[in-house]
Amino acid sequence: MERTLSIIKPDGVQKNIIGEVIKRFESNGIKIAAMKMIQLTKTQAQGFYAVHKERPFFDSLTDFMTSGPIVVMVLEGDDVIAKNRKLMGATNFKEAEEGTIRKDYATDIEKNVVHGSDAPETAAFEIGYFFNDLEIQAR
Ligand code: CMP
Repeated sequence: MERTLSIIKPDGVQKNIIGEVIKRFESNGIKIAAMKMIQLTKTQAQGFYAVHKERPFFDSLTDFMTSGPIVVMVLEGDDVIAKNRKLMGATNFKEAEEGTIRKDYATDIEKNVVHGSDAPETAAFEIGYFFNDLEIQAR
């Protein structure tokens, strides 16, 4: 059993597809172990994406991530890090496979609807960034 962090980004919330994204997780055997809606401050967004701080898109990305509410979730299941990444599709929606969340809904490499942890170490950091142990239910 594995856990990963999923974020429905401000563009996904704005497009009213929270339910659609969750439906894709649940209908693929993924359990929601924690969930909340929040709006990040610039400092919080910079901390979350600290690994990208030298990238040219860092300032724009952290502005975008603070532009509206987001939904953060802990997903649980077998091989859920890879499963979630497959459901999301490639970062760049133009390269995403048919039927993926980003292929269906993203409009921009930055405004790409969802985020998902890319490895067990990043999942542990990212889950801990938003949730404490009491807020996560074993499913
Ligand atoms: P995410 O999976 O959340 O990880 C980092 C984010 O940075 C990515 O999704 C995009 O939102 C954004 N991003 C990645 N690459 C680029 C890029 N080349 N230009 C702009 N934004 C990017």
